[in-house]
Amino acid sequence: MAILVLGGAGYIGSHTVYELIDAGKDVVIADNLETGHVEAVHPKAVFYEGDIRDRAFVDSVFDRETIEGVIHFAANSLVGESMTDPLKYYDNNLCGTKVLLESMVAHGIDKIVFSSTAATYGEPERVPILETDPTEPTNCYGETKLSMEKMFKWTGRAHGLRFVSLRYFNACGAHVSGKIGEAHSPESHLIPLILQVPGGQREHISIFGDDYDTKDGTCVRDYIHVTDLAQAHILAMDYLMQGGESSIFNLGNGVGFTVKEVIDTARVVTGHPIPAEVAPRRDGDPAQLIASSEKAKNILGWKPKHADLKHIIETAWNWHKTHPKGFVKEK
Ligand code: UFG
Repeated sequence: MAILVLGGAGYIGSHTVYELIDAGKDVVIADNLETGHVEAVHPKAVFYEGDIRDRAFVDSVFDRETIEGVIHFAANSLVGESMTDPLKYYDNNLCGTKVLLESMVAHGIDKIVFSSTAATYGEPERVPILETDPTEPTNCYGETKLSMEKMFKWTGRAHGLRFVSLRYFNACGAHVSGKIGEAHSPESHLIPLILQVPGGQREHISIFGDDYDTKDGTCVRDYIHVTDLAQAHILAMDYLMQGGESSIFNLGNGVGFTVKEVIDTARVVTGHPIPAEVAPRRDGDPAQLIASSEKAKNILGWKPKHADLKHIIETAWNWHKTHPKGFVKEK
């Protein structure tokens, strides 16, 4: 019996596969390699290259492998792109999930752990954010993830499928081995962009707005290590295997850091001055996003092990300085 990881060649997917294999599980990966990297595929996993919108492909994976549960990362996830190309997000994220669910129902596979996001909440009314707080996404990416959660809910009611949706806050860091890490193209996330400065690929980091109502005027986020996120997927799958009912969990450290604090910590880690320049606010950025993860701690028994921001940035720096072009080999 194996776990099928859709999008297992991507950033959070590949880290989850590494943890699953370390935990002794059999893993099958399906990934279309549109944003994932074949180099991130764990050598002990069975790998199928294909797209979840392709019913024949998805059916063929379920027909050939004995799958006990699915972990679903296969989606587009860039907030900015989702605003300029919303239909791409509806097509891949929603249509892909529809095809996946049709195939799961047809094959009697009834457990799915889903990669969701804090973007489902939009601008929060208060922090820390609870799972029961209002969900009013301010971007199309968050809207599609929220719709995917609802697709699981209604499909579950009709066909007996159970799901766990994990709403991540700011995923960051890299595997402690340095073998895999974050490699987006184009990169839009704060920590990898900061580290491009000591990496010699960028002159300075831009701070998107310093007039927010926060302690130093810059946005506050809850940075959570990718391996801690990965562990939560294993716990969530165990929970479903033990008969747990469908549920939604936030995943964050419950501590917020400002953009300036993150830059300062990266200066300490890298020993580089990392020049920073204030730039206009980025459209759609909430001032503060901080998770309450009490529910995941209480019900799943989740306990982040890499919560220290300095340690998180050290793991990221260890990856980026050895892989300045991500998975592209240096010529
Ligand atoms: N930022 C900068 N300069 C940069 C890049 C980012 O100041 O060059 C700031 C942003 O304005 C934001 C913070 O750094 O305040 C973090 O930005 P990221 O782009 O790293 O992350 P986001 O908080 O925008 O996005 C994250 C996830 C998304 C998710 C979103 C939920 O990456 O997948 O949280 O709102 F949708």
